Formats: sequence, C-alpha cells, structure tokens
Amino acid sequence: MAKTHVDATILLLILISSSGIMVESAIGVNWGTISFHKLSPFVVVDLLKENKIQKVKLFDADPVVLRALMGSGIEVMVGIPNEMLGVLSSSPVAADLWVRHNVFRYLVKGGVDIRYVAVGNEPFLSSYSGQFESYVLPALLNLLQSLAKANLAGFVKLVVPCNADAYESSLPSQGAFRPELTQIMTQLVSFLNSNGSPFVVNIYPFLSLNGNSDFPQDYAFFEGTTHAVTDGQNVYYNAFDGNFDTLLAALSRIGYGQMPIIVGEVGWPTDGALGANLTAARAFNQGLINHVISNKGTPLRPGIPPMDIFIFGLLDERAKSTLPGNFERHWGIFSFDGQAKFPLNLGLGNRVLKNAKDVQYLPSRWCVADPTRDFSGVANHIKLACSVADCTTLYYGGSCNGIGARGNISYAFNSYYQLQKQYLQSCDFDGLGMVTFLDPSVGDCRFLVGISDNSSSSFKPHGNFLVFWVIWMLRLLNIMSPL
Ligand SMILES: *[C@@H]1O[C@H](CO)[C@@H](O)[C@H](O)[C@H]1NC(C)=O
Ligand SMILES: *[C@@H]1O[C@H](CO)[C@@H](O)[C@H](O)[C@H]1NC(C)=O
Ligand SMILES: *[C@@H]1O[C@H](CO)[C@@H](O)[C@H](O)[C@H]1NC(C)=O
Repeated sequence: MAKTHVDATILLLILISSSGIMVESAIGVNWGTISFHKLSPFVVVDLLKENKIQKVKLFDADPVVLRALMGSGIEVMVGIPNEMLGVLSSSPVAADLWVRHNVFRYLVKGGVDIRYVAVGNEPFLSSYSGQFESYVLPALLNLLQSLAKANLAGFVKLVVPCNADAYESSLPSQGAFRPELTQIMTQLVSFLNSNGSPFVVNIYPFLSLNGNSDFPQDYAFFEGTTHAVTDGQNVYYNAFDGNFDTLLAALSRIGYGQMPIIVGEVGWPTDGALGANLTAARAFNQGLINHVISNKGTPLRPGIPPMDIFIFGLLDERAKSTLPGNFERHWGIFSFDGQAKFPLNLGLGNRVLKNAKDVQYLPSRWCVADPTRDFSGVANHIKLACSVADCTTLYYGGSCNGIGARGNISYAFNSYYQLQKQYLQSCDFDGLGMVTFLDPSVGDCRFLVGISDNSSSSFKPHGNFLVFWVIWMLRLLNIMSPL
C-alpha cells in the first residue's frame, strides 16, 4: 500500500514536471565576459540570485566563473568556442579531457548544475563561410562518447546554438534551411533528437530592422503592427513569432517538426545605432517576456512556448568586436557595472531589476580635455585612445554623438584613462588632458568610471593561459597518437 502510494506520488511528480517542461517557459540570461571593466564573478552571481535568475548561458567554461557559480543552484549551459571544434572533432582524448575539466569536476554536491554544453556558437553563420561546419558532428559524437563514459549522457545535453540565418523564407510556412546546410542540419537534428536534446536558435529582430530600411519598425516589437504578415490561415503580428515558425517549418521539412526549442539568444541593444536605445530595448524585452510567459505559443505551435529563452545579454561587453556594428557592445539589460539600464520585469518574482551590490569602483575622477590648450594635434591621440578603449557611443546613432568636438576629445581621453585604471600618465596626452573630479556626463551620454577589479584582472590572463595550454597539449596529443 505504502509502496503504491509512493509510486503514484513519483508518477504524479514526473507528470507534473514533464507537463511543466511542455508548457512553461523559463527566462534565463546570457553571461558574456568580453569586457574591459569586469565585475567580479561573485558579484555577478549575486546579481543573478537577487534577480531570481535560475538559468544562465555561458560562452566558454571559465573556471573563475564556474567557481563563482558553485553552490548557487543556478542551471548552467557551458560553451565550447568554435575555435576548439577542430581539435575536439579529431581527438576523442581531447573530448574526454574537455568533459573532465569543464563538466565532470563541477557535477558534485555543492558544485555547478551544468545541464547543457553548447558545442560551438553559431558555427553555421554564413559569414564564417563554412569554416567550422565539418567539425560540428564529429565533435558532437566525440563529446557524447566522453559524457557517456562519465555516466553523464542522460543528464548533460549537447546542443548547437544556431543563428536564425541558418534558415530563410518570406512566409513562415515556407521556411527551409539554407540549401547548402540541408544535409548537415538533417544530421544535426537527427543527432539532437535521438539524444533528447533541444534545438537552440538565436533570434534577433533588431538585426532585421537594422539591416533593412524597409523592415516595418512596429513588426519588430510586440505591441501590435500595421504590417501583420498573413500566411494562409495564420496571421503574424511580430517578427519573433514569424521567425520562430519559419524554424518550425524548416524542421518539419526535414522530418522533425516536433523538436523542443530553446531560444539561446534574443534581445535588443541600447546604444551604438539608430533604433538602439533604452526605450526600444525596454519595450522589446518586456514585450518578449510577457509574450513568452503568456504561454500563447505561435500559430504553428499554439499553447507551447519555447522551453527556455535566454536574454542577450546580462551585461554590456565593451571589448567585443564592433564588426557587426557599434551596437555590439551594448546588449546588456545591465550596464558593464551591473546597474539596471531600465525597469524590467523578468517574470521571475521581482517587479523590476535589482542592481549589483558591492561594486568596487575606481575613485570618482575623470580625464577630460584641458580647455586652455590648443587641440590641433589631438587627432592621433583620439585615434590611439579609441583603438584600445571603447568609443562606440560617439558615433552616429550613439548616446554621445551630439556632445561637440571638445566633448568627443574628453570622452576618448576618459575611456582610455579608465581602461588604464586611472594611471596618472594615461591622462597626459602630451599635456592636452587633465583630471577632473566633476562628472562630465551630459544627458544620456555617460562618462564612465572604471571598476577596481583586482580579482578578475589577475584571473583573466590565468584563464586564457589555461585554455591555450589545454589546446596546445591537445594538439600535441593529436600529433603523437594515431587517431
Ligand atoms: C528608439 O528606437 C526606436 C526604434 O527601435 C525608435 O522608434 C525611436 O525613435 C528611438 N528613440 C529615440 C529617442 O531615439
Ligand atoms: C564627434 O565624433 C563623432 C565620431 O567620430 C563624429 O561623428 C562627430 O561629428 C564628432 N563631433 C564633432 C563636433 O566633431
Ligand atoms: C586593488 O588594488 C589596488 C592597488 O593596485 C589597491 O589600492 C586596492 O585597495 C585594491 N582593491 C581591492 C578591493 O582589493
């Protein structure tokens, strides 16, 4: 009797939790770390907890970050950079080592709750011209073997985050993978399906809007549109649903229309381009979250929202490449120092975002252009300062674009000075710079003060060194063992 009761309870729990997975979407965040002024990972983990964020997606497996996540109970997706796919695809030993160092050792009591390994990041992106494509499946197979050997294959799932540029169509129902990807996508999705892994996709209505002046602006948001898209019986009122269903149609076309889907990245930048501003980012993110947690789903999958969505991103990463555009350094819902950029209800229990606590700033001082000087020779200084520090807000569409010629000089000087941790000589600029204690910020244009981040600045070279050492060692193993 007692036994049956227990069994029934377990069955009920399983039913509840599995039905929970089907209809309830969880909101997580992407935590990228390409920043000059890095918050201590412990401050960031505290920020996640304060905001009741239970799921986080990483782009690597930085031991300092993972150490900070230990014991937090937060579910983690660790990442493998594309550059490592080659060695992982050719060497089972490399895959074993990677799993041991970056997954296995954290899965202990009081460790890190690693649920997913993202194998590559958008490896099929068209701008990569196929350079990573052939590595993806062999790397997945090796890593699966390694997980199985460690008895983890049932718990830790391998996924491959794909950019939405992997598929295309003018109408969602006509969605198809890019012709040159059809074969590899079929193999990938078959692999994911047989291992109980979801399909992970990154969807960016901002990029559709930014790259195309004909794109109807209100279609990018969730507040109704004058440009609804009619597709047979279905009507689409926002770009996110249209894009999501294009993926579903593409998956159906290769026989996997039922794949569970995680949105690995979605968000809106706040600076560095026209249309990238606080108002728009708030409207997009809040609209998206409300839409997803309403459990409406999309026309092709009504009532079933994505399994999880990961907002991109948690913090600004102001050392990222600006190749995609200056907005690339401004995707955070928090600025680089963990301060909320706008009120946002993540649907996780807090009505607004809470700021990071115990952030250790450098002293409140700034480097600006000395107004008594002649600036004829300043161009080279600005060029040099902005080639290393971040000046993306100065350009067209940026929050500091209208601050005038001297404002521009001061902004560049200050960015460099803060990057150099306010080292006195770094405000010299042949006598053109001067240190001030008055905040030179104007309107929305913020002149930042750096973070005194002793811990992570000393950790970073160490972390990099470790990665390079491991890759180097794997290369060596590769050469020595006939694989
Ligand atoms: C912010 O961006 C939106 C579109 O993304 C645009 O409609 C709006 O005019 C922008 N606001 C400002 C103040 O620039
Ligand atoms: C300030 O710099 C930006 C970026 O180079 C430029 O677009 C803008 O015209 C400059 N402003 C002045 C007044 O020179
Ligand atoms: C960081 O290092 C500086 C000197 O390099 C020191 O003055 C400061 O107290 C340190 N801050 C912390 C939080 O350890």
